[in-house]
Amino acid sequence: MKVLIVGSGGREHAIATSVAKSPKVDKIYCAPGNAGIGQIAECVPIGAMEFEKLVAFAKEKAIDLTIIGMDDPLVCGVVDAFEAEGLRVFGPRKNAAILEGSKAFSKDLMKKYDIPTAAYENFDNAEEALAYLEKADFPIVLKADGLALGKGVLICNTLEEAKEGVKSIMLDKQFGTAGNRMVIEEFMTGREVSVLSFVDGKTIKTMTSAQDHKRALDGDQGLNTGGMGTFSPSPFYTKEVDEFCKKYVYQKTVDAMAAEGRPFTGIIFFGLMLTPKGPKVLEYNARFGDPEAQVVLPRMKNDIIDVMEACIDGKLDTIDLQFEDNAAVCVVLASEGYPVKYDKGLEIRGLENFEDKDGYYVFHAGTAMKDGKIVTNGGRVLGVTAKGKDLKEARANAYAATKWIDFDNKYCRSDIGKAIDEA
Ligand code: AMP
Ligand code: GLY
Repeated sequence: MKVLIVGSGGREHAIATSVAKSPKVDKIYCAPGNAGIGQIAECVPIGAMEFEKLVAFAKEKAIDLTIIGMDDPLVCGVVDAFEAEGLRVFGPRKNAAILEGSKAFSKDLMKKYDIPTAAYENFDNAEEALAYLEKADFPIVLKADGLALGKGVLICNTLEEAKEGVKSIMLDKQFGTAGNRMVIEEFMTGREVSVLSFVDGKTIKTMTSAQDHKRALDGDQGLNTGGMGTFSPSPFYTKEVDEFCKKYVYQKTVDAMAAEGRPFTGIIFFGLMLTPKGPKVLEYNARFGDPEAQVVLPRMKNDIIDVMEACIDGKLDTIDLQFEDNAAVCVVLASEGYPVKYDKGLEIRGLENFEDKDGYYVFHAGTAMKDGKIVTNGGRVLGVTAKGKDLKEARANAYAATKWIDFDNKYCRSDIGKAIDEA
């Protein structure tokens, strides 16, 4: 069969790597893809938001299955555009992708269906938000309602900071129209865990757990980024936590969406915080996490095509989702200066060291081809993933493999997975 993947980051490279393993697949296209994806798929120069062109391409090439990797097109209805033309596509429709597209929607859903999350209020005007802050406890968390490239969350320690935050989100529109509404919520403490799941509208199967490192610098210092590294499984995601979430979070979310007339098909990513009062939902995403996908998918035993087709056909209950009994760590190689200012176009050397190395992967996040060479083309450049029999071994393997690669201004955190020492 012919598969089209929509997106251009490390997540889509990880998806493409899993798809390429399926014996059912003869040909993979990726729009727009990147230099690494181009080694296993044919990249086509169509942007992820160019729905008409994507649909026309899928028809012209008689694509059997399209997989949407990114949030933006999902939230804007790319799945509906494919389905309207009778094309098979993996991902939630627009009315379900709102689970990620509107934080106010997802908070109201959790409140209505009694799914544990931080206490909150939604606001659609700045005066009311500012008045609310006068009586609030600090720290407090401000969230722009819409998509903001993972940057629309401000943790404010004082009333002054919070007032500035409301102004920048709602009045100065720092995150554009994402800030037309906002959520103000209680600050929670605890460890964060990412749990990704396959969903077919009614059945949910969760994948192995993972943990991301969102801050740019060691010790969780510095600015928030798209993610500097991940490990899987999380030793903090215990059997008790899993049982709690199975009872109070996962199926309840899927049932709530169905009850609202918004059946969800695709990936639900549960961002959880393990608070002293039990697990609570920090956020939902309607797609694989990035770089969570880079540690979760390499450990999945199933043929990803079988699982995705079962989701589309409403037959996920027939799938026995299985993961290897090992661990994986992904260390992101970034360009020094990310997420603020960094150079692009720097030649990357050593990628060939990963060829034929079992259990090692180099997923391209921001790369491009220039004059026949692979060069940096983004802040997050590569995700170096290694497996190991346990997290310690996987971490040692991943850090060893980061040394196989070289480019000017190469930067990575040195403490990805360090938390496992405390487990
Ligand atoms: P989100 O995009 O909602 O996951 O928020 C991004 C990050 O902000 C999360 O991964 C947390 O580290 C932090 N965060 C979000 N909401 C809260 C909260 N209520 N309390 C503490 N930290 C939070
Ligand atoms: N790693 C966090 C995300 O994909 O949103």
